[in-house]
Amino acid sequence: MYHPTMPKRVTICEVGPRDGLQNEATPISTEDKIRFCDLLSDAGVPILEATSFVSPKAVPQMADAGEVFARIRKDDGRTYLVLVPNERGLDRAIDAGVRAIAVFTAASEAFAQANIRMTIDASVSTFAGVVKRAKADGMWVRAAVSTAFGCPFQGDVPVADVKRVCERLLELGVDELSVADTIGVGTPNQVFDVVGALRDVVPLDKLGLHFHDTRGTALANTLAALECGVHIYDTSAGGLGGCPFAPGATGNCATEDLLYLLHGMGIETGIDLAKLRTASRFIAGRLGRPLASRAYTALEAADARDARLAAATA
Ligand code: COA
Ligand code: ZN
Repeated sequence: MYHPTMPKRVTICEVGPRDGLQNEATPISTEDKIRFCDLLSDAGVPILEATSFVSPKAVPQMADAGEVFARIRKDDGRTYLVLVPNERGLDRAIDAGVRAIAVFTAASEAFAQANIRMTIDASVSTFAGVVKRAKADGMWVRAAVSTAFGCPFQGDVPVADVKRVCERLLELGVDELSVADTIGVGTPNQVFDVVGALRDVVPLDKLGLHFHDTRGTALANTLAALECGVHIYDTSAGGLGGCPFAPGATGNCATEDLLYLLHGMGIETGIDLAKLRTASRFIAGRLGRPLASRAYTALEAADARDARLAAATA
């Protein structure tokens, strides 16, 4: 494959255990969360967003973050990431042995208020202390910016607002940004606008994108971003996910869908798609419902057909 700007390798941050499970009404046991994370490690995901140290009143499903994080397998050379909203979250993360954190705010005031009950200014002030301590402790720090492509309360979000909050987070000394289409409203022209504006302030090595597939545009948006040279993407196994604070938000771009696209294009990820499906199959069984991922569904059906044929001819 020849394309002048397309990356040859993509880094996937698997967010299923966090962005995925946080929105599930079915309580998942601590053991099952750990098993899900370990199966994702088996598949070779380079960055695993394992859980979040947020208020258990805000997100009950993440109340067992400390035990989950302490007990998941940590393979060498991989990053095991957790969300931290404040100093309290950082204390809990340090106690659990965390070495990589993500702080998170939004590009729209209304969403910051709904999600973390702070203004954007207050969140940046809070994170200044959190990031300083984390960096002094040698941690890797990411910052996530929600609602960069549209807000469930405010509607359109000006690109200038996205750029401003990204600049402020970079000034705090974070290692990477994750710029999110939290409610899956973005279209490729917006990707060109947002990435075009951010290129002035963020090196591509530090820019990740996080698409939700609510309106079926996640892969199209990813392809647009690949053409811009962006090579870090957040996805969730099976397409799990949504945000409890964003009405109508559904799952992330499915890891299987993106892997199918990238591997088909000859772009490396280091992830084994068959093993990734094993992790998705496990969590689908625990949730007791089908998964949204198109590639997962098609590949599972093809395997079932092959198994039937093999049994019939045996
Ligand atoms: N871990 C555990 N408990 C925490 C906490 C943390 N990181 N931060 C706050 N709390 C507890 C406080 O101790 C307090 O408990 P109490 O009522 O028993 O005294 C309660 O939560 C409220 O604390 P307060 O500081 O007043 O926070 P708040 O109500 O203004 O909420 C956040 C702010 C950021 C803690 C909360 O909104 C939150 O956790 N949001 C995360 C949402 C999320 O994960 N969204 C998905 C990611 S996109
Ligand atoms: Zn998300």
